[in-house]
Parts: sequence; C-alpha cells; structure tokens
Amino acid sequence: MSFVPYDRPVRAAFIGLGRIYDLNVRAYAGNPDVEVVALVDPDEERRAQRQADWPAARVFASAAELAASGIGVDTAEVLLPIPLHADGVTDMLSFGWHVNMQKPMCNDLAEARRMLEAAQANGRVLRVMENYLFYEPLRTLKAVAESGEIGEVSGYHMKMVGTGQGGWEVPVSSFLPQLEQMQRGRGILVFDDGWHKLSTALWLFGPVREVRAWIGNTPVGPGVDIDAPATIVWEHDNGVRGVWDITLAMDMYLRSDYYTNDERWEITGTKGYARVNRCTGRGIQQPSLEVYAGGVLRAYHALDDDWASSFRDSGRHWLRWLRTGDGPLLWSGEEAVDVLRFALAAYASSAAGGAGVHPGQLG
Ligand SMILES: NC(=O)c1ccc[n+]([C@@H]2O[C@H](COP(=O)([O-])OP(=O)(O)OC[C@H]3O[C@@H](n4cnc5c(N)ncnc54)[C@H](O)[C@@H]3O)[C@@H](O)[C@H]2O)c1
Repeated sequence: MSFVPYDRPVRAAFIGLGRIYDLNVRAYAGNPDVEVVALVDPDEERRAQRQADWPAARVFASAAELAASGIGVDTAEVLLPIPLHADGVTDMLSFGWHVNMQKPMCNDLAEARRMLEAAQANGRVLRVMENYLFYEPLRTLKAVAESGEIGEVSGYHMKMVGTGQGGWEVPVSSFLPQLEQMQRGRGILVFDDGWHKLSTALWLFGPVREVRAWIGNTPVGPGVDIDAPATIVWEHDNGVRGVWDITLAMDMYLRSDYYTNDERWEITGTKGYARVNRCTGRGIQQPSLEVYAGGVLRAYHALDDDWASSFRDSGRHWLRWLRTGDGPLLWSGEEAVDVLRFALAAYASSAAGGAGVHPGQLG
C-alpha cells in the first residue's frame, strides 16, 4: 500500500475512553503532530470526564455516529474492550480512518484476516500498538544484547507474577470483557498481558519455529479463571531458546502505579547476562537494568523506567509516522499476526500435551 504522509497535524479520534485512555492520552497531550477532533464512548460519564482534556473535540456515543457527522477524521486511537476489536476496527477502516489499536489484536486468525483485508481494501494503515517495545529499559536491554557485551546470546528467560494486591483501581466494567475472553479460552495472563511478552520475544530474537506450552488454570471466583500456572518455551529460527513462566500470587502486595504485575526479562550470553528487573510494577526496587560481564555488574540508574512513558513514546511514534512515513510501525498489522500465531501455537501445544507446534503452520 502506498502511504502519503500528512503535511499538517493529523485529525484523531479516541474510540473508547476507559482505563487505558489515561496512559494513551500522554502521546497526544501537547503534541503538534495531532489535533484531537472527537471522543467516542457509549458511557456518558466517560465522555464528560474526557471532554475536560479536549474541550474543542466533539463527543459521540458510537464510531458510526462520528463517521456520519461529517467531521474529518484521519486516524482512530482504538481503546475498545477486546471482544469488540475485530468488528470495531474493520468498521473504522471502512470509514476511511487509519487505525492505531490496542492489543491483543483479536482472538483468532479468521478475525485477523478480516482486519488486514479491510485495511487493504480501504487503503488504510492498521497498527497494533506495542508499548513494551518503547520501554526504555527493554530498548537498552536489546541494545546491550546486540552490542556483544555479554557475548553470543545463549538463551533467555521471562518471568511474570500476577499479584492480587496493590496497583491502580481497575473498574469492574473494565474487567467484564476479560471474563468474556476467559470463556473463549483467551486468558488474562497468557493472552492479554502475555501478548506483550510474546511481542518482546519476536522483537528481540526474530521469528519462532517451535512453541511448547503447559497452560494451567486457577479458579479465583465464580466464573473467574486465571490462566496460571503456565510455562511456555520456544525456539527462534536463529536457534535461541526462550522460556516464560507465569505465576499467580493472589495475596501478594505489589507496589505499582498501574497494574500489579511483577515482570523480569533476563538474557544470558556466553560472557554474561543482562536483566530488566521490572516494568509495569515496582517489584524489585533497584536499577531497572543490570548487566553482568567479566566479573563486573553494571547498573543503569537513569533510564526512564516509568511504564507510562512507553505509551507516550509508542503513540508519539505513530503520530510522527503519519507525518513522515519513516521507519517501522512497531507493529504493523502483519507483524501483530505473528504475535497472535505465537499465542495460538502455545494454546495448540498445551492442548496436545506440550507437543511442539510451528506458529507458521497454523491454519
Ligand atoms: N498496552 C497495555 O499494556 C494495555 C493495558 C490495559 C488495557 N489495554 C487494552 O486497552 C483496551 C481497553 O482496555 P481498558 O482497560 O481501557 O478497558 P475499559 O473497559 O476500561 O475501557 C473501554 C472503554 O470502551 C468503551 N466502549 C465500549 N463499547 C464501545 C463502543 N462500541 N464504542 C466506543 N467505546 C466503547 C467503554 O464504555 C469503556 O469506556 C483493551 O484492548 C485492552 O486489552 C492495553
């Protein structure tokens, strides 16, 4: 698709004004690349609350009403509940809007195909934002691994502990779509938050040729099933192996300004290792990145390790991209399908007792 960059600020609409708007909005505030022209949410209270940020924007209860209003929209910042992603994004592409959407892109490959086809048919760009790729400690981890400082990469490990106590308020209404997702076998840890972990794996070490998984289940309330404990291992085309362990700790308090997720990424090389100690929460309160090589441990004390900054920078990247067309989208719709395939391969493997599954061979 040929894309012509805009020679003026892009006109953007926020579609969905819930919990994560609070972080996505950071890319738009004070950004000369964009003019926010509309806010869409069926919830009147949300519309009134967010209108205070953008007094000049028009508000609507649905994207269809905005499309019919005659207001010019170049791009939509789509912050919809997950079950609405596929239909909602397909509609918005057909309105002629570019789309920057939240993860997970959608639940299966048929939905993904539908979304990509809508982008192509309407000559619009579909981006599935991946804020983790803009988290400075992870970007520096990648740079360290590629610099050779820790030698050749031998393997890596990601860790995630979902804790039950602490963090910001998540309204019950934000949690309800997750229950729907659980019923469909798309759990909150492996599929929803896990999308980020699988993304970072692809971003760090490229395509994956085999996935093996053992995905458990812990009921924590009526109709509330958490997909832990879970362990997923894989091998990249370049031979590097990764492992990700997911644990639930319902009674653990974790200090966090956002969600209560204790996360770690550790790359081992032939000469040393590099480890990101935290991301969303503040589990380990020492420098966010440490690098060990040659008997010396180095720590990065001045990285921007506020998780919210990764939303700001991912969004700014997109808005700048619309103005210039320069550089990778991080992620394009097609790249997001690779993340989806990775997750689906994990489910297929777990269902087959941990057998190896090639993500590219899923139908
Ligand atoms: N990148 C991340 O780390 C991250 C973190 C949290 C959530 N998310 C993603 O962000 C998205 C939104 O999550 P959230 O936690 O803000 O959910 P939320 O439920 O708090 O907000 C969703 C909003 O969409 C509104 N909505 C519902 N139907 C709509 C429609 N048809 N048109 C317009 N608006 C509609 C709801 O009223 C609500 O205000 C999800 O895709 C979620 O996976 C990403």
